[in-house]
Amino acid sequence: MSGGSIGRLFRVTTFGEPHGDAVGAIVEGCPAGVRISLRMIQRELDRRRPGRGPTMSARKEPDRLEVLSGILRGRTTGGPVRLQVQNVDARSGDYDDILHKPRPGHADLAFWLKHGAIPVGGGRASGRETVGRVLAGAVAKQLLAREGMKVAGRVLEVGGRRTGFRQTILAARSRADSAGGTVELVAEGVPPGLGEPVFDRLDADLAKALMSIGGVKGVEVGAGFSAARRRGSENNDAIIVRKGRLLTRTNNAGGILGGMSNGMPVVCRIAVKPPSSIGIGQDTVDLRTMRPARIRVGGRHDPYICERIVPVAEAMVAVTLLDHLLRARASAPGKRVGMKKGDMGRPLGALRAEILLNDAELVRLLGRRMELAEKIGRRKRSLGLPVRDARVERAVLANARAAGKGAGERGKSEYALKERQPASGLPADGRPALRTELRPRPESLSAPVAVLLRGRLVLPAAIV
Ligand SMILES: Cc1cc2nc3c(=O)[nH]c(=O)nc-3n(C[C@H](O)[C@H](O)[C@H](O)COP(=O)(O)O)c2cc1C
Repeated sequence: MSGGSIGRLFRVTTFGEPHGDAVGAIVEGCPAGVRISLRMIQRELDRRRPGRGPTMSARKEPDRLEVLSGILRGRTTGGPVRLQVQNVDARSGDYDDILHKPRPGHADLAFWLKHGAIPVGGGRASGRETVGRVLAGAVAKQLLAREGMKVAGRVLEVGGRRTGFRQTILAARSRADSAGGTVELVAEGVPPGLGEPVFDRLDADLAKALMSIGGVKGVEVGAGFSAARRRGSENNDAIIVRKGRLLTRTNNAGGILGGMSNGMPVVCRIAVKPPSSIGIGQDTVDLRTMRPARIRVGGRHDPYICERIVPVAEAMVAVTLLDHLLRARASAPGKRVGMKKGDMGRPLGALRAEILLNDAELVRLLGRRMELAEKIGRRKRSLGLPVRDARVERAVLANARAAGKGAGERGKSEYALKERQPASGLPADGRPALRTELRPRPESLSAPVAVLLRGRLVLPAAIV
């Protein structure tokens, strides 16, 4: 069946049915030589596993990780990574009735209309398919962690309530019914620039990845649907600089603007429907006779799936972010979006933003230096000492010159430090007559970043 894969450069294919031998994933696009913790993958599987209490399906699956290829001695080989778990607790008998009487709310009727048969156990529409997603997501999460990225999810709401989850679920279960809810996903440390407008916007791809999980009925990014009820002045996120970083004061955009990450946390929420397999009698049709029928779904089903969906949804966010990170790096030769070391190939906008931030910091430091120099001058005058100290001035200028030369030699600086002719005599205000200028090299068309002239700090047009 087509439609079993997602991602371009980090490509994930899930395989298996709940009543077959195994379920798992094939992951392509992992760089070679990366250390992968199998323990961490097993922990992620355990978070999704059924049979852990009264709020989930009683199906007992140990879900023990098996690595078939792509990871040797704890490191990726660069080849396809194939991971799986065995199905050990399938009971096909539970589904005999369903094979002819489609469950209202499940995929059975759509399968029958499309393929002329209802797959046993829900086939690829079973929650069991999501094992493969969690396996691939655990690999993606480990690769993202190396880049300083982390994805975390939590159940936000169950049955329309923000508290008392357990009671709501157990109450639904005691009535042979089920409950829906909302799950929130937050990705921290996402670098700016992930997402490829227009059709491969990051929000569009996240929505696709999350909507592909069975039972997910809606996706919102940032303020999402509540943005539709706001005014622009309420919804816009003010842009600020904090600790040298361009941020927004609020995050109604959910970390994505114009389909590209903006460096703020990426925030999504998903609406999870109440699972359709319930013990209450419902109307359906017996497909053998085409006559009305009643169905009560027996077997072992989840009375709510939000908790089990959390690691699945985290996995889909991780897989999507990693795919876009690799795509951002591949879309220009030498591109290193989000890399901690090196600026090669970083987008022009990001470099411009950084130089402006550096300028602002430089101006702040120069200003601070001016204040200190003034204080020293005043103190010296009150002590009757000469304000200028030729020895210190020479040392400072020599240091500055060396720094400018070093940068110039590395071929990275467009600036040269130049000493100006000192003004004759002592300045009336007692300020030291140290004059240092950052001038553009002749071959550069750029303006100097900042000029420190006595008593005045000059910031010519920024280089943008
Ligand atoms: C982890 C997980 C467990 C699930 N368990 C059940 C279940 O026990 N019973 C059920 O009816 N649906 C369950 N679902 C939901 C079905 O898979 C889903 O309703 C089905 O694929 C049809 O897709 P749709 O609801 O998006 O139309 C589960 C989904 C997930 C992700």
